[in-house]
Amino acid sequence: MKLSLRFVLPLILVLAGIAYAVAPLVDQFTLRWFVKDLDMRSTLIVNTIQEPLQELLQAGKKTRVVEYFNRITQDERFYGVGYCATPSGTVLASRSLPKQLHCRDLESWSGPGEHLLQTEKGPLHVTVRPQESEAAPAGRLVLVHDMSFITRRSEETKRYLFYFFMGLAAVVSLITVVIAQLSWRGWMSGMRALLRGEGLLRQPGADAQPKQSEFKPIARDLQRLINELESDVRARDENQVTWSPESLRAILHAELRGEDVIVVSNREPYIHQRRGDRIEVQQPASGLVTALEPIMRACSGTWIAHGSGTADREAVDANDHVAVPPDHPAYQIRRVWLTPEEEAGYYYGFSNEGMWPLCHIAHVRPTFRSSDWAQYVAVNRKFAEAVVSESKTKNPIVLVQDYHFALLPKMIREKLPDATIITFWHIPWPNPESFAICPWRDEVLAGMLGSSILGFHTQFHCNNFVDTVDRFIEARVDRESFTVSFGGKLTAVRRYPISIEWPPAPEMVSKPIADCRNDIRQLNELPPEHKLGVGIDRLDYTKGIMERFRAIERLLELHPEWVGSFTFVQVAAPTRTGIGEYQHHEAQVRELAARINERFERRGPPPIVLKVEHHEPREVYEYFRAADLCFVSSLHDGMNLVAKEFVAARDDDRGVLILSQFTGAARELPEALIVNPYDADQCAAALHVALTMPAEEQRDRMRLMRGLVAEFNVFRWAGRMLLHAASMRRRSKLGERNGREER
Ligand code: G6P
Repeated sequence: MKLSLRFVLPLILVLAGIAYAVAPLVDQFTLRWFVKDLDMRSTLIVNTIQEPLQELLQAGKKTRVVEYFNRITQDERFYGVGYCATPSGTVLASRSLPKQLHCRDLESWSGPGEHLLQTEKGPLHVTVRPQESEAAPAGRLVLVHDMSFITRRSEETKRYLFYFFMGLAAVVSLITVVIAQLSWRGWMSGMRALLRGEGLLRQPGADAQPKQSEFKPIARDLQRLINELESDVRARDENQVTWSPESLRAILHAELRGEDVIVVSNREPYIHQRRGDRIEVQQPASGLVTALEPIMRACSGTWIAHGSGTADREAVDANDHVAVPPDHPAYQIRRVWLTPEEEAGYYYGFSNEGMWPLCHIAHVRPTFRSSDWAQYVAVNRKFAEAVVSESKTKNPIVLVQDYHFALLPKMIREKLPDATIITFWHIPWPNPESFAICPWRDEVLAGMLGSSILGFHTQFHCNNFVDTVDRFIEARVDRESFTVSFGGKLTAVRRYPISIEWPPAPEMVSKPIADCRNDIRQLNELPPEHKLGVGIDRLDYTKGIMERFRAIERLLELHPEWVGSFTFVQVAAPTRTGIGEYQHHEAQVRELAARINERFERRGPPPIVLKVEHHEPREVYEYFRAADLCFVSSLHDGMNLVAKEFVAARDDDRGVLILSQFTGAARELPEALIVNPYDADQCAAALHVALTMPAEEQRDRMRLMRGLVAEFNVFRWAGRMLLHAASMRRRSKLGERNGREER
């Protein structure tokens, strides 16, 4: 109603204004019209009275003339008539002729145009016409008409005009208000339906109502807008959440209604190893395990992995399940058993001699064998079957991990079309030229594109992946939304930089820093105030351990003062020892360490202590807490979580991180000393800077890095992917519903 008034009032005012402006114009127009009318009437009267008047004048009967004039002026509008024989004579006039009219003035009234005479009784119209005769050649007849009726009519016209415009305003307003109300109601109900999720695409009682196909593009745009707003809100929420195991659990329950989470990786988080008559539980050196283990502790669910430990079979139940962590079970491992042939072809062969060097720029050539490929396909299928058998619903959330399972997403999708499959690629993705080396590149890409979401650590790797897809397979790539449409299925390619548990588990940081410093120095036979650097890696050629040692050698050449007062402890976990390249690498590392030690050992403790053995996470943290610096010199690394773990371990805000520019972590931790591991001089200089860095500068840098790891912890990494998965699930449900109703 208010809306209607808001519209009607201005309309009435506008129309009243128009009426007000138009009235004088109408006045002028009607006046001209009436005057013309009076002129014509005067001419008619003159023609009519001419003959009788001449006769009376010729007969000299002036009194009769006056009587005649009086008689003819009885007409209501004919006001008066007079005759002047000469301009200087007196006028023979009817009674009513105004006194102002004299014969001498008649000439001035006889020109063209309207002749109005204003009197007390109102305006009069004066017409003067020649009335010549032989006796009076300059005779003039004057006729006067009453014009007051024109004023009366003008007033009436104005009144009617006013009423007309007001009536018009009322009619126009009424029609407009009715139309507006009807359209508004239709629009509002459409919007409400859309906001309820029904959309204009949906036609309730579709049989009864005609389809409003013209609304469909608008509805789609609106839906897209709502989705964008929704995801904006969620993105803002992501920043407001304090990311912890609890918040992750809450998201899982609220957004995904506690749906079952299944993780698939090659490496298992807990390995049962037989040591004589005991069984030992080991946590492997794997960034993947470091990141995902806290997630599974928070979310529960099932982790499917290769049972690789010597006592793994002894630990499982009849369904190949074992509850972990051993002390406080929170989730299940489902172990998948591989034959030696399968392990050789799938794990050592295709995964670690093919894909691993293919994706890392470490100048080790990939080796691709068709026999390895066949095992890779078979093992991926075996894991797909395990996923199906572990899935409690038709649409589980499956988190597929890493390059061991490029084919798995498609295989799962074939068996569980409604599953939400999030694949995370923990290693770099090469450029299209490098990837083209893989003889089964199309199959690998098609397999990965079975995923709903495909995650990489950096945008650079996302770009490389999308470029590779664009180059080699028939897929539609949308660089705006970063999605790939392949075989009727959409995959979102996203950057999710991985991280670690924050705050670190209390047992990791419970031993005081001073104790860690003392114990580690004692253990390695180093003096109490000896400067200590640490490197913690798998013994992998991508980690740049050779380059690290060369940098230490260069430091000692350039700064001999550090010889005997600085030692670098390299913890190198044996890895993939069945592969020739790794055996060769281990030999090279041992040889280089020995040569450098031999060169500088004469003046006290050795510059390098190489420990090629497995260390449990607590021991690793003790090294981090004992060290003055940590050196991460990877030649190419997806993220490198050792860098983040070092930062997490240093709750004393001390210690310096030297970090390779070729790690994903270097993009997130610019406060580290960023180096090119191939540049030995630069790395040596960084080592010297680290060893001499004042405590305040160490603190400032460390605080900034700790702040980042705290904010972007692994719960946020997983939470972002799950939130994204949840919104995709909602969208696809909506799409299905709309699809059903449109059919
Ligand atoms: C990298 C890979 C992981 C793997 C880890 C250890 O971090 O991305 O998938 O688990 O290395 O390697 P391994 O072959 O011992 O599992």
